[in-house]
Amino acid sequence: PTERSLVLIKPDAVRRGLLGEILSRFESKGLVIEALELRTMDGSLADAHYAEHVDKAFYPPLKDFMTSGPLAALILSGDSAVEVVRSMIGATDGRKAAAGTIRGDLALSNRENLVHASDSPESAERELALWFPKF
Ligand code: CMP
Repeated sequence: PTERSLVLIKPDAVRRGLLGEILSRFESKGLVIEALELRTMDGSLADAHYAEHVDKAFYPPLKDFMTSGPLAALILSGDSAVEVVRSMIGATDGRKAAAGTIRGDLALSNRENLVHASDSPESAERELALWFPKF
């Protein structure tokens, strides 16, 4: 089925000049960019976006990182887009992510891992409403 995923190309990717390369991978795969916005996350959006992580030990530095500069927020759509995007980005920890994935090829950190993508159709609905309420 055609699905939509909420994808964030994180501040580390923007700082490192990898925005074009990462967007290009998604486009080359055949996913459609339905919305694309450069913006800086504020603390309250970070807390809402990462609601399931706010009590974890890794959350305070994650919040500092995610609010540290502009990121690209996008809606990607396509057949099975949620699962397809997750497989393209690879495992959370860039040191363990498989070669050929975005993190496996371009990231070496568990926190600064370049990309976030919705992990299920249900979380996609929740995240899309947070980031792109007019959609
Ligand atoms: P993301 O897909 O955005 O979802 C949660 C984020 O928390 C994850 O990518 C990483 O950036 C970060 N993260 C998850 N686990 C850890 C960890 N153990 N240490 C540091 N950062 C983490």
